[in-house]
Amino acid sequence: MCGIVGYIGPKQAQEVLISGLSKLEYRGYDSAGVAIGDGACITVKKKAGKLANLSGELAAQPLAGTMGIGHTRWATHGLPNDTNSHPHATEDGQIVIVHNGIIENYLSLKEGLMGRGHTFKSETDSEVLAHLIEEAYQGDLEGAVRTALSQVRGAYGIVVTHVNHREIVAARTVSPLVMGVGEGEMFLASDVPALLAYTRKMVFLHDGDMVVLNDDGYRVTDLAGTALQRPVETIEWDAEAAEKGGFDTYMLKEVYEQPQALTNTLIGRLHDETGEVNLDINLDPASFKRISIIACGTAFYAGLVGEYLIEQLARIPVECDVASEYRYRDPLVSENTLAIVVSQSGETIDTLEALREAKKGGAKTLGVINAKGSSMTRELDDTLYIHAGPEIGVASTKAYTSMVSAFLLLALWLGRARGTISGEEGAELLHATRELPRLVEEALAEARVEQIKRVAEKYHQARDYLFLGRGVNSPTAYEGALKLKEISYIHAEAYAAGEMKHGPIALIDSNLPVVVVATESRLLEKTISNVQEVRARGGKVILILSDGDTENAQHADDVIYVPRAHEMVSPVVNAVAMQLLAYFTATALGKDVDKPRNLAKSVTVE
Ligand code: F6R
Repeated sequence: MCGIVGYIGPKQAQEVLISGLSKLEYRGYDSAGVAIGDGACITVKKKAGKLANLSGELAAQPLAGTMGIGHTRWATHGLPNDTNSHPHATEDGQIVIVHNGIIENYLSLKEGLMGRGHTFKSETDSEVLAHLIEEAYQGDLEGAVRTALSQVRGAYGIVVTHVNHREIVAARTVSPLVMGVGEGEMFLASDVPALLAYTRKMVFLHDGDMVVLNDDGYRVTDLAGTALQRPVETIEWDAEAAEKGGFDTYMLKEVYEQPQALTNTLIGRLHDETGEVNLDINLDPASFKRISIIACGTAFYAGLVGEYLIEQLARIPVECDVASEYRYRDPLVSENTLAIVVSQSGETIDTLEALREAKKGGAKTLGVINAKGSSMTRELDDTLYIHAGPEIGVASTKAYTSMVSAFLLLALWLGRARGTISGEEGAELLHATRELPRLVEEALAEARVEQIKRVAEKYHQARDYLFLGRGVNSPTAYEGALKLKEISYIHAEAYAAGEMKHGPIALIDSNLPVVVVATESRLLEKTISNVQEVRARGGKVILILSDGDTENAQHADDVIYVPRAHEMVSPVVNAVAMQLLAYFTATALGKDVDKPRNLAKSVTVE
């Protein structure tokens, strides 16, 4: 994630930058830094750890200057230490940048720059931006930024200053950037709350926008330099609503952040031209004979999807364990085992202890983790970060879909390396995976959300719910039931659809809503047979169907349509419908979804 801020105007920049960064710490807290100047000099100060480390030092020794840029980091490339903190400056200290995003082609750019005599201080992808701008600079900062950005691939919100210019140049692609318009002063930030103490007038920059700020105002252009008009909007939210991005709850905000979170999970890892998956994992995919996936709760359900994907695509036997069971069941582990632990927080004690158990048995270990630098990451052989950004809502949403997407990447990587997927199948899946942010965006279209809300409100008085799914979507049913239980306190059970007739069918009567994931798949006909069994017993059927499936809609009391997706990636798209169904049921019942009773975000007790 990372948060960035910028300021130019009559005030001392330090106060504005620290105030702004304090509202962006939710975007990352691995380090913080500022660069402050006045158009004739510039000083950089940065510190690993929380913003308080930096602000404490600045309070003791303030930096004078009325223009500056700042950053709070959620580390992606390079450890969370002082050197890798932003801002990054060129060797002569003249050009300084902050960056939020990932530069996909940074390695080849860095090699080229080093070959041309540039010396790098950090391990970050971001530092290449400072050097590229330096190389292109011939007295015109805006032009140099434009030339530099024409060479990069990936995601960026970037803010740049030069020691000799009283101006700030910024640009964005994928990563967010908003500009605040004050009286004789201008602001920039990754998100609105950072600026609300100073202005309510905001310009939301679009993908591919560049902006130049100075004491007289601002100018927006596209990357080619053509002038653009962007409306100035007045923000009416109060401070609390602003922290939730205008949403009523963190959970809903995080549901809507999923297209961006998924982009962050996938970016730089899929290569269309070569069809390769690059995960930067230092483990030999040919050396495993079996895989154990270990996790708790929602992360466990992501692991179940992973089990299915890896077995299908890489043809390695996989077993999936609840961490609290794994650690006490004396599991069979050897050097040929790869143990994959899955965790948003990286701190869940059961998962951490299970990881230690697997290591004791000689397994190689890999984490699918969100929180950088968390306890698990310090003990793992390697980590595949999901980069979903901080998750505040107790009920996990964006971390789940990012975890499932990370498993898609892993399964593709293993399948490619082991030669178990054909070039054609690999290309098709790679394309389907790349489509996920767009599909999830579509799944969040207003009309769809309204339809889910109507269904949720229709059944919100139900005492029990049943969720069914098959194959790669049986975990979608488990996750749907868990979400509903957690935040609405309605009792919900979930089964693989084929298992219903072996017991749960006894529960069915006309008071029982049964949610069935019945999107396009090889097993759809079989799922529909299970639906008939529910209907024959008077159960209320809520079908999750792929767009355009009017034929199966006739078997339902209510239908929730989701965008059509390749079966293997469909659990990500279908999860969004489950999250919203749980969310609107809970809000119809007046529950506090961000703080569900008895639950904690990170469970560090056994
Ligand atoms: C459910 C939820 C929990 C967590 C579980 C594991 O919405 O959030 O079930 O998934 O406690 O937590 P992590 O992923 O942090 O290990």
